[in-house]
Amino acid sequence: MENKKIIIIGGGVIGLGIGWQLAKAGATVTIYERAQAGRAASWAAAGMLAPLAEAHSEEPELLKLGCQSLERYPQWVNELENDAEMSIGYRVEGTLVVGLEPDDTHQLRHLYTAQQDLGLDVEWLTGREAREIESALSPRVTAAIRCATDYQVDNRLMVTALQRAYQACGGVLHENSAIEKIVTVNGVATGVQTQNGFQAADVLILAAGCWSAQVEGLPDTTIPPVRPVKGQMLALQMEEGITVKNVIRTVRARYPTSVYLVPRTDGRLIVGATSEEMGFDTRLTAGGVFELLRGAWEAVPGVYELPLLETWTGLRPGSRDNAPILGKTPVENLVYATGHYRNGILLTPITAYEIAKLILTGETSETIAPFQLDRFIM
Ligand code: GLY
Repeated sequence: MENKKIIIIGGGVIGLGIGWQLAKAGATVTIYERAQAGRAASWAAAGMLAPLAEAHSEEPELLKLGCQSLERYPQWVNELENDAEMSIGYRVEGTLVVGLEPDDTHQLRHLYTAQQDLGLDVEWLTGREAREIESALSPRVTAAIRCATDYQVDNRLMVTALQRAYQACGGVLHENSAIEKIVTVNGVATGVQTQNGFQAADVLILAAGCWSAQVEGLPDTTIPPVRPVKGQMLALQMEEGITVKNVIRTVRARYPTSVYLVPRTDGRLIVGATSEEMGFDTRLTAGGVFELLRGAWEAVPGVYELPLLETWTGLRPGSRDNAPILGKTPVENLVYATGHYRNGILLTPITAYEIAKLILTGETSETIAPFQLDRFIM
């Protein structure tokens, strides 16, 4: 491996995470990032590590992958914080999924039953029990599900830490450097064409998030089915008397839309997110911000008083079946790590560890085998 040359296309948490693991193992790694590293979906995310709260009975493989990645988090945090010499704000208070009216309670019950059928460790709470855990919750909260093991991490700190750790291990990062195309010869990836000419590689890893399908040079049948799904978000500043400790998610059976509130150690309260099929449009809208604020205010009325610190949008890399696309492709020496959709931060450790292992050993592990591109190729 020592002399193997790896090129990664995309410098978000996925590209940086894989790059860090490979550079640490002795590979020569170069990342080409079209803009600034980690400033797209990785920066926009809320950092929820929530396989239980987001469980869907029709996506058992994705749930399993999310739980496996969550299990790897303590090791990941320890290793990354050591290598980067900084905290990444990992918090283990857990998540409360709350309903605000009788219809919501029915929907919550449906989720709870599905979670139980899947064997997940969740707890049903009355509104009063939920308020005993999180006193900022509205008296309107009718019921809640406690997902005590759905944690959170500060994704922006994780970006900074990954960049530091990657570069400390000798990884090379080219920012504002979109590649012109992937070069293949007789079905084998040989390198990338850049503004500075052809760069050869033994292995190419495509980790370009929602831009992955736009990369030139891929044979038609190998283009990953990944599209942008817009999310609008905002941050409030918590103040004395109005603090939230748990991650809170609302389930709304009818209008308005569900929201989540994620309290950070530095006092920021992240509120998200809309989910919009708007292509690469990243405009913030009055309606989007209004819905987020209204949803947050209904669950935690005290937010009405809080200063609004920041608003932003992000583009989730959504795949056709909501699951990531990981591993080998029909093009030899071309590996995918993309399409993480709503779970990029949660799935970063398992993706980084398993894709690095694939490159180092040549073997696809059972963990990622169900997520290869070939599931879309008829
Ligand atoms: N996982 C949260 C979101 O995609 O909004």
